[in-house]
Amino acid sequence: MHILNTLYPVGISGVGSYVPETTLTNFDLEKMVDTSDEWIRTRTGIESRRIADKSMATSDLCTFAAQKAMKDAGVEPEDVDLVIIATVTSDMAYPSTACLVQKNLGLKNAAAFDISVGCSGFLYGLAIGSNFIKTGACKTVLVIGAEILSRVLNWTDRSTCVLFGDGAGACILQRCEEGKGILAYNLGADGANGHFLTQPAGGSRMPASIETVQKKLHTVHMNGGEVFKFAVRSMEKTALDTLNDAGMSLDDIDFLIPHQANIRIIESVAKRLKVPKEKVFINLNKYGNMSSASIPVAIDEAVSKGLIKKDDIVLLVAFGAGLTWASVILKWSK
Ligand code: ACO
Repeated sequence: MHILNTLYPVGISGVGSYVPETTLTNFDLEKMVDTSDEWIRTRTGIESRRIADKSMATSDLCTFAAQKAMKDAGVEPEDVDLVIIATVTSDMAYPSTACLVQKNLGLKNAAAFDISVGCSGFLYGLAIGSNFIKTGACKTVLVIGAEILSRVLNWTDRSTCVLFGDGAGACILQRCEEGKGILAYNLGADGANGHFLTQPAGGSRMPASIETVQKKLHTVHMNGGEVFKFAVRSMEKTALDTLNDAGMSLDDIDFLIPHQANIRIIESVAKRLKVPKEKVFINLNKYGNMSSASIPVAIDEAVSKGLIKKDDIVLLVAFGAGLTWASVILKWSK
């Protein structure tokens, strides 16, 4: 599925993020499972990750990030027409995390829903939200990517527990100047290979039972090698498809923000796309893979460090559970 920007132009008018204070380093993990700082750093690029305090749920992280994004955009609670939250670690099955955040922030005029797209979720959220503005249905949309993955990890499985972290990133979408903002996006899915990355229990297929808990089926199960291959192939293809839709070439890209899962995946994709290192944003060393929160947190950091400037062409690209992929090309309009 793909679409070009043909109606009202839509851009990001505010960004914000929140990561929990507590840091879990590779050295801390050495005391928990049979691993080493050296293995984690060389195989993944991760040095530490943030872990949410027990008292916090995903909606709390969302609320902090959204407050900052709304302030950045100069948006009042009553201005928000729609809240979309991408997460695979919602507070509970229902109400949606988006409804909980709507309540927390007093967004009394907003519709609200969650989407479950794994690590591609924030980009799916940008695409969905932008269409509501493009068509004139909404003027202000709040899109959030947020996860507390530490709650769904098997802390005895060294092949997964070292990879992930907690965090939230948010952005406000509004109309922008013609020719700027979201220029093109590309979304896709490969459900046939979804079994490579699952959290099997807790839904209608395998409801919670003593057995599912004992077998740790409420945690992340992943075939890392298969996901790795899918990540490199799908990120390259979706990036090229979106560039094609936008009528652009790789030389037009000022900045690449890839999903932050593994430094080797990012380097392979950047190499295939021939994007030089200095144009690629990396923060997974500090945060690990925060799934749907990785890209919005990265955008917020890149903007606050002055790495993204007005009129820069930014390519956002992700893959995730589903399996899914997504990419967005923006002309930075803020
Ligand atoms: N510490 C030490 N050794 C480890 C660890 C660890 N934490 N984890 C695995 N190993 C061992 C394995 O047991 C294996 O040992 P063996 O050879 O004796 O069997 C060895 O290291 C090599 O294991 P591999 O799985 O081949 O390691 P690989 O280099 O492929 O790295 C990794 C594994 C990091 C998981 C990689 O495959 C990867 O990054 N895959 C993509 C994962 C990903 O991006 N997931 C995204 C999730 S997205 C979402 O939507 C939630």
